[in-house]
Amino acid sequence: MSAPLVVGNWKMHGTQSECFNLGRAIARALRRKPAETDVVLAPPFTGLAQVRRALREATIGLAAQNCHWADSGAYTGETSAAMIADIGCQFVILGHSERRRIFLETDAMIAHKIGAALRHRLRPILCVGETLAERRAGQTAKVVSRQLRIALKGLTKDVIENVEIAYEPVWAIGTGQNASPEQVGQVHGRIRRFLIDSFGQSTAMRVRILYGGSVNPDNVNSLIPVDGVNGLLVGGASLKAETFLPIIRSFANKVRA
Ligand code: PGA
Repeated sequence: MSAPLVVGNWKMHGTQSECFNLGRAIARALRRKPAETDVVLAPPFTGLAQVRRALREATIGLAAQNCHWADSGAYTGETSAAMIADIGCQFVILGHSERRRIFLETDAMIAHKIGAALRHRLRPILCVGETLAERRAGQTAKVVSRQLRIALKGLTKDVIENVEIAYEPVWAIGTGQNASPEQVGQVHGRIRRFLIDSFGQSTAMRVRILYGGSVNPDNVNSLIPVDGVNGLLVGGASLKAETFLPIIRSFANKVRA
């Protein structure tokens, strides 16, 4: 397993200068005191060039928050994986629940996007997770398995290692109510079993599984020790260096353990 991964998903926040300043603040702090984790920033499309400039030699990755599956064409308002790679991204977040729920993305669309991202040597960060109604109906395992099965269909052992998976229960995103360590452990265990069944033990163990949903500096220390948590996808708390940096650094003890 490579180093843990902490991703900051800035969603639709930030002018170009705000994105530059936040990227620079995070890069400077990590240059002064390097973290023992991989760090990736996902600004809005209009902030990508500025954040890339702010990061310069820093070993921080750059992610887009979405991409289209075609390389180019008549898709007004869309951005292709090729364009995202061209602007300097190494990662792309795909299948975020806000994309699924508000923009009606289906599992099949997400599968196409994963294919496009991999073709352009981007590492997809595939988000999966159940709604509150699905959890209450006892459907969590079924929903997450379906999302994984369709999104990862056709991927081979050597390719799956380039995919990051983020478990993000929809009811925990932006609500201030994070999933409990037990809930996170259970679903991460199921995702790992799915990967083992699909790709074999040794390959599956190399795929990082992140948790996302209302992670903040106060609850992060209860989530990090959970078996199978290999990183975090952070929304609201990634919008300020003061709240994002302590989250990045809190993996230090787990890495040394
Ligand atoms: P949140 O968002 O940390 O604000 O809950 C997480 C996400 O949507 O990736």
